[in-house]
Amino acid sequence: MKRKDLDYLIIAGMLLSGLYVATTGLVMDLFGFPQFFLHRYAGYACAALTVLHLALNWGRITAYLRRRFRRPLRRESLPQPGHVPQQRMGRRGFLVSALAAAGGFALGWLVPGRRPVTLPDEAGDLGALYHRWSTPGYSLALGALLDWGGRPAGYKTYPNAKRISLPDPHGYYGLSLEGAIEARRSIRDYTSEPLSLVELSRLLHAAQGITDQRRGFRAAPSAGALYPIETYAVAHNVAGLEPGVYHYAVAGHALEQLRTGNLRAAITVAGIGQEMLGQAGVCFVLSAIFQRTRWKYRERTYRYVLLEAGHIGQNLYLAATSMGLGACAVGAFLDDQLNDLLGLDGVEEAALYIIAVGKV
Ligand SMILES: Cc1cc2nc3c(=O)[nH]c(=O)nc-3n(C[C@H](O)[C@H](O)[C@H](O)COP(=O)(O)O)c2cc1C
Repeated sequence: MKRKDLDYLIIAGMLLSGLYVATTGLVMDLFGFPQFFLHRYAGYACAALTVLHLALNWGRITAYLRRRFRRPLRRESLPQPGHVPQQRMGRRGFLVSALAAAGGFALGWLVPGRRPVTLPDEAGDLGALYHRWSTPGYSLALGALLDWGGRPAGYKTYPNAKRISLPDPHGYYGLSLEGAIEARRSIRDYTSEPLSLVELSRLLHAAQGITDQRRGFRAAPSAGALYPIETYAVAHNVAGLEPGVYHYAVAGHALEQLRTGNLRAAITVAGIGQEMLGQAGVCFVLSAIFQRTRWKYRERTYRYVLLEAGHIGQNLYLAATSMGLGACAVGAFLDDQLNDLLGLDGVEEAALYIIAVGKV
């Protein structure tokens, strides 16, 4: 192979690998991958080809630089009067541009769009349909160019609410993780003994507490560290805490009092009559502010938000078990009643999950 051919081959490789690095970088950004091996290898390939290209053309490059920066401009090289500059795009240039345009057009046709989703009758619920439609693909990536709204504040606060500081949640060592996993059961009978404020503090910390102060990362994982889930505590029987609805202010590890009063009946009704919700010391309600995840993950949002509520729910279960408390998850509830109880609109932010916790 002639040296010139090799040079062209390397330039083509550089262009292709550069394009690949850019595309995989875009994919990483879109889907929030911190690492992506295809991106890494393409980057190495691009860097290696660049070094090779520089090595092969070192003489020409240094000669050019010397010419460009050392030699003074000679009088005869200046454009003479009446000189018409040569057309830049010759026939070959035009042909290449036309071919590139045709290639781009063909690519647009060939890139698979979203396949029409058809479901067999027996799997025909809305969730299954959503699941199939929310698969990532080229069209989803291109959809990022559309406007999915802005990024809302990462923390929700109620500036006018009474703020109640929570005791330090650290320093308690209950059951081991293995022990808590083995012992965890859904407990639906609770005694009338109140939970302590420090127990409530530990539970909230296990659910959503900040465990990496520098980056603001929390006890439970979150797609893209966007943290769409808010935690509310409907407290019935916590020593030193007026019964009512409280919002967990994650940033300051504090409670914001939203309303007071005996809400045992109200939450039992919202929970379709499940009595444990009125008997528990506290019912944690996890809600989602969907836009926190949607501006970045678009159609994947609903999946991520539910998965994250699951993580937090399990943290609550295990923390309660480790402290010798009883917990039970509740997914069956009347959405409108529960959202009303917390003052949520059910659209921008909606209740997803209840975890009842009480003394056993
Ligand atoms: C998503 C979800 C929703 C649930 N909803 C309810 C509910 O509405 N009422 C209830 O009594 N238990 C509910 N549970 C608890 C399950 O009934 C319980 O996990 C199951 O019976 C297994 O028992 P275990 O948790 O003791 O292992 C729910 C659990 C999950 C994961």
